[in-house]
Amino acid sequence: MKKIFLFMTVLGVFAATSHATFADPASDLKEFQAFFKKKFPTVPFDEYSNGLYVLPGFEVYKEQWTMYNEFPPFELGLAIGKKIWETPFKNGKAFAGCFKNGGKNIAQGYPYWDEASQKVRTAEMDLNDCLKKNGEPEFTDLDKDEAARVRLAELTAYFYSLSKGQRIKIDLSSSGAVKAYEEGKKFWWQRRGQLNFACANCHMDLAGKNLGGNQPLSAALGHTTAWPAQRLEWGRLETIHQRYKTCNSQIRAKPFKHGSEIYNNLQLYETYMSSGLPLTAPAMRN
Ligand code: HEC
Repeated sequence: MKKIFLFMTVLGVFAATSHATFADPASDLKEFQAFFKKKFPTVPFDEYSNGLYVLPGFEVYKEQWTMYNEFPPFELGLAIGKKIWETPFKNGKAFAGCFKNGGKNIAQGYPYWDEASQKVRTAEMDLNDCLKKNGEPEFTDLDKDEAARVRLAELTAYFYSLSKGQRIKIDLSSSGAVKAYEEGKKFWWQRRGQLNFACANCHMDLAGKNLGGNQPLSAALGHTTAWPAQRLEWGRLETIHQRYKTCNSQIRAKPFKHGSEIYNNLQLYETYMSSGLPLTAPAMRN
């Protein structure tokens, strides 16, 4: 962290991230994806689903990643998730019964705006809701209870794996959805923490750079496609909110709670920005 700070100091003032207030989500999306097309003209669009490994200059990381993918360490967690998904509840029903199409090929629409509750809903929320509806205990206390959170991440990873390859398509057709999107967008561009960094500073301005020599930075495009993901450092599948919390802590900002509305909105914004990319979750990540 000290190293990062030094690096930033050396860098001096950031080039101001182009942050116009665009008219609507569709124009934002165009602008956002064009930003990366211009920054990395040699990277094919679909490749962004594979994280930082496809960026020029990160070949060493790609080599390691390809090697890990031969026997992906997340297979164990994914198998646990599959078992939870398939094991019938005490009432004889199962998770598949709670979802459209038995849960297959639907994750590309998550997170989504729910008119009834006037809130963004994530896959984790719907999985928990399914437990509740069937009289089963939910996964709770996700900030403190790592075991519960990891089980939920494994289950969510399996849910996403049922939609592997489906292209992200987020419905922002209602005004409530757009409002939540705007909240997430604001969070994305806002500077925070002792280091005074916005998400955009690291994952747009500095994407493709290696902070302090050991912190390769991914492009925001494709950010949500691989989650739940497994980092070698963590050695377990984790939720995307856990990743958000880590990114907040890294710049010495107080992380928000797992499942908090602001993280849901942020996830909606980030996912919408990756519209059109195929889902790859679960995957290995740095
Ligand atoms: C100080 C730089 C920094 C800031 C600021 C930062 N991150 Fe990160 N982030 C990282 C690093 C390092 C990683 C791990 C390597 C990578 O994938 O970029 C990471 C990874 C991620 C990933 C996983 C990427 C993938 O391909 O799986 C997501 C998602 C993410 N960050 C979101 C955010 C969001 C949202 C914010 C703002 C709340 C944020 N980050 C702010 C440094 C940062």
